[in-house]
Amino acid sequence: MKATFARVTENERLYGETHITWFAAPEAVRGAGPGQFVMLRCVEPAAEREPLPATELPVDPLLPRAMSIHRMRQGADGPEWSILYDIVGRGTAWLASRRPGDAVYCWGPLGHGYSLRRASQQLLLVAGGIGVAPLVWLADQAIESEKSVTLVLGGRTAEQIFPATLLPPEVEIVVTTEDGSLGRRGLATEAFVEHLEWCDQAFACGPNAMFEAMAKEQRRSRIRRPVQALLEEGMGCGTGICYGCAIQTRRGMRLVCKDGPRFDLREVF
Ligand SMILES: Cc1cc2nc3c(=O)[nH]c(=O)nc-3n(C[C@H](O)[C@H](O)[C@H](O)COP(=O)(O)OP(=O)(O)OC[C@H]3O[C@@H](n4cnc5c(N)ncnc54)[C@H](O)[C@@H]3O)c2cc1C
Ligand code: FES
Repeated sequence: MKATFARVTENERLYGETHITWFAAPEAVRGAGPGQFVMLRCVEPAAEREPLPATELPVDPLLPRAMSIHRMRQGADGPEWSILYDIVGRGTAWLASRRPGDAVYCWGPLGHGYSLRRASQQLLLVAGGIGVAPLVWLADQAIESEKSVTLVLGGRTAEQIFPATLLPPEVEIVVTTEDGSLGRRGLATEAFVEHLEWCDQAFACGPNAMFEAMAKEQRRSRIRRPVQALLEEGMGCGTGICYGCAIQTRRGMRLVCKDGPRFDLREVF
């Protein structure tokens, strides 16, 4: 893990209300894989470099925000990585307002990402809303390794669906929206059930309600497939110090940041 000031190289609204920010700071993601994450301090770096007295510390964005590593690319001056996010509060609003050249204090790579079995050839990826963020890099890598990938993109409306044109053309895409504005009307869970028999391994990221529905279908089905879920939990440090991200699993108490964020679906739901 490395803490650094990451320079923003590009920042834009990619689709709907979803933003992408690219950083040039390879040291923060060295050796990382899909499903791992970084912690970002969402305050002006001046406050980091010249520590303020405790009474003047920004209170609301005091805690760093966790973001999955979304994708990698070769930039003008070397490797770059990105985060993909919706604006849900002060931290993400601050991130979306960064400009090229701005610095963001961050540390990573953190946690255990997805674990792909060498023998698995047919991979099912299930994304609920912004849960698509870590799955795109997994799809990129799997296609490079000549695996077959089906990616289920679920959202409330078309606005929440990651553009197919930004994915490798080899990926088979199934879109489901709750209002039927794009793809099939319904939930990502339904497409998950239909593809369960086809896949060797499944990987998911999305809200807990989606995981709960998937686990229910998995229990109901006679088909047994390993499903890895990437969990989200409020985090204070991302490194196992604050115990803010403790959850109860079938194997006892676990820290999402250190023991996860990847868990076997049935271990938690
Ligand atoms: C390992 C990990 C990876 C993540 N990756 C991404 C990502 O790639 N893209 C992305 O958009 N978000 C991601 N998140 C969620 C993101 O960290 C939170 O949404 C973050 O708190 C937003 O900060 P904010 O200041 O904008 O909103 P806040 O002011 O912190 O919160 C706004 C709303 O979101 C809720 N919230 C806060 N934290 C979480 C959380 N951890 N999980 C669910 N709800 C929360 C709050 O209750 C509130 O309703 C990830 C979280 C974790 C733990
Ligand atoms: S976020 Fe601090 S222990 Fe997990």
